[in-house]
Amino acid sequence: MEKKETLKDGTKILIRGLHVNDLDKLMKFYSTLPPEDQKYLRIDVTDKKVVEQRIELTKAGNVFRLIALFKDEIIADGALELSGEEWRKHQGELRVIVARPFQQKGLGMILVREMYFLAVEKKVEQVIVKMMRPQIAAQRIFRKLGFREELLIPDYVQDRGGKKQDLIIMVCDTKDLWNELEHFYGDSDWQRCR
Ligand SMILES: CC(C)(COP(=O)(O)OP(=O)(O)OC[C@H]1O[C@@H](n2cnc3c(N)ncnc32)[C@H](O)[C@@H]1OP(=O)(O)O)[C@@H](O)C(=O)NCCC(=O)NCCS
Repeated sequence: MEKKETLKDGTKILIRGLHVNDLDKLMKFYSTLPPEDQKYLRIDVTDKKVVEQRIELTKAGNVFRLIALFKDEIIADGALELSGEEWRKHQGELRVIVARPFQQKGLGMILVREMYFLAVEKKVEQVIVKMMRPQIAAQRIFRKLGFREELLIPDYVQDRGGKKQDLIIMVCDTKDLWNELEHFYGDSDWQRCR
C-alpha cells in the first residue's frame, strides 16, 4: 500500500509498508532520534543487526510495519504485532515513533489510523500499547484515542540508561478506536479510506 498524506502544516508525506531493503533508511531514521526518544525503546536501534532482525520478523506474517517518508527519507515508523499465542490471538500491539521535526503535526495520529485499518483487516479485536511512564506524549495521544490504562507494573522495565521504569499497558477495543478516530478526522478526505 502507498498513501499520500498532508500534515497539519501542509507538509506532503508518503505512507507505505516497510520493505526489507529499507534497512539503511531505517538506520538513518533511528540515528536522528534524540537520546530522549531512543531511551525508552525496547531494542537498541543503533545496532544494525538488531534492526535487521526486526525487519526480518515482518516476513513471518505476524508483524506489520508502516513507515512515513518525506523526500524519500523515513520520518516515522509504526508497527502492529499480532500475538502468536492462542489465548491472545484477539490482540494486536501497536507501536509508533515520529521524528522530532515532524511531531505534533498529526503524523502520529495518521499512523495510528493506518495501523487501525491493518488491525481491522487482521481481525484484531483489542489493541494494546506499552510504554514507560516518562513517555507522556504517547500516553496523551492514546488516552485521546480512547485507550484506558489497564495496568501499571512498577519498575518492570529498564530504559537505555539502565534506570528501572514503570511499564504502562493501555488497551482499547478496536471498534471503540474507530469511533475516536472518526471523531478526530471528521469529514476530512481520510474518510475515503474506509
Ligand atoms: C507519541 C508520538 C508518536 C506522537 O506523535 P505526533 O506525530 O507528535 O502526534 P500527533 O501530532 O498526531 O498528536 C496527536 C495528539 O497527541 C497529543 N500529543 C502529541 N504530542 C504531544 C506532546 N508532546 N505533549 C502533549 N500531547 C501531545 C496531542 O493531544 C495531539 O493532539 P492535538 O495536536 O490535536 O492536541 C511522538 O511523540 C513520538 O514519537 N514519541 C516518542 C516515541 C513514543 O513514545 N512512542 C509511543 C510508544 S507506543
